[in-house]
Amino acid sequence: MDLFEHQAKELFASYGVPVPTGKVATTPAEARAIAEELFAAGNKKVVIKAQVKAGGRGKAGGVKLADDAAEAETLATQILGMDIKGHTVHKVLVEEGSAIKQEFYFSFLLDRANRTFLTIATVEGGVEIEDVPHDQLAMIPINALEGVDAAKAREIAVAARLPEVALDGATDIIEKLWKVFVSEDATLVEVNPLILNAADEVRALDGKVSLDENAAFRQPKQAELEDKDAADPLEAAAKAKDLNYVKLDGTVGIIGNGAGLVMSTLDVVAYAGEEFAGSPKPANFLDIGGGASAEVMAAGLEIILSDPAVKSIFVNVFGGITACDAVANGIVSAYELLGSKGESVDRPLVVRLDGNNAELGRQILNDAALPGVEQVETMDDAARRAAELAAVGA
Ligand SMILES: Nc1ncnc2c1ncn2[C@@H]1O[C@H](COP(=O)(O)OP(=O)(O)O)[C@@H](O)[C@H]1O
Ligand SMILES: [Mg+2]
Repeated sequence: MDLFEHQAKELFASYGVPVPTGKVATTPAEARAIAEELFAAGNKKVVIKAQVKAGGRGKAGGVKLADDAAEAETLATQILGMDIKGHTVHKVLVEEGSAIKQEFYFSFLLDRANRTFLTIATVEGGVEIEDVPHDQLAMIPINALEGVDAAKAREIAVAARLPEVALDGATDIIEKLWKVFVSEDATLVEVNPLILNAADEVRALDGKVSLDENAAFRQPKQAELEDKDAADPLEAAAKAKDLNYVKLDGTVGIIGNGAGLVMSTLDVVAYAGEEFAGSPKPANFLDIGGGASAEVMAAGLEIILSDPAVKSIFVNVFGGITACDAVANGIVSAYELLGSKGESVDRPLVVRLDGNNAELGRQILNDAALPGVEQVETMDDAARRAAELAAVGA
């Protein structure tokens, strides 16, 4: 999960990293009120910054300086609603304008290729790091066990060729940013620019943080950092149920066991759909995994049925460790479970069972004679039938 700049800066501040004072606004009037506070506190300039999870906001016109509160309001009006690299600006950060003497670049990241942590730092900051010639960069691997103490932090600042006057400030910030990186389970902590201001103080003027979602279980506080506005509501509901679900824009709901099988099911359905009116396509990716219990099947069906775009559902299961009879029982129980909640399955379901105990599974479904459930033996034919039903239902 990537954080917004304002979230990254709040995180930095909580570790003692100096950042400009500022607050987030969602309307021009709010931006003006924050600007008034900042001017009243003695600031000469205020900056309005678009909050989108994309770099290069400055170049795109999403970072602007204001000399008074009225100008701050005008700039906020321009920036709110702006599109930056496909991201709509819903929030701006209004913060004190810094008198910048020099801009540096600093980052800690996970270097997957070399199986280590890495720091990249350079005196040539403020521009996109990809544009800085390689020989201008200090790239220093960090031993995970040794980490970054004051001596290592200074070594990095010196290798980056930071000016003498910035060394103490940068050393302190680098040491603290390492604490952020480790304690928050980040895969990236980037500050561009890290600046030297007119008072010869070092400050983090921008912040980009990527958190490792594999560590979410031990970072309960980070849940509130999630951008709820951006998340698809169905994906959020699926995540809450621990389902591996991705919303797509077609009309054929897909349930399968195993990511590989589901991926190929998407292809087969899209291909089969070309034959029918409106070319029905997959409505989602949903992998119910190995242990397809009745609860998981019911949860999966519930999510897919709550997508109004879905016209038919294709359940494609290859029995392995989880045998087909267990899956068939799962489908039967799922119908009962949903029925008991007053949510009937109101769209046709095409089921293809193959592999371990396929015969038994098919028998269970035949005996249950659930309304709207059809069984088709092969994956291609089942995909074709599901697409056909979606075309009819559309
Ligand atoms: N608080 C600030 N005061 C003065 N200038 C700023 C401030 N924040 C950003 N800037 C200027 O705007 C540039 C771009 O801002 P930044 O936050 O790095 O956005 P991005 O990297 O998305 O372009 C910075 O390099 C800096 O020159
Ligand atoms: Mg930047």
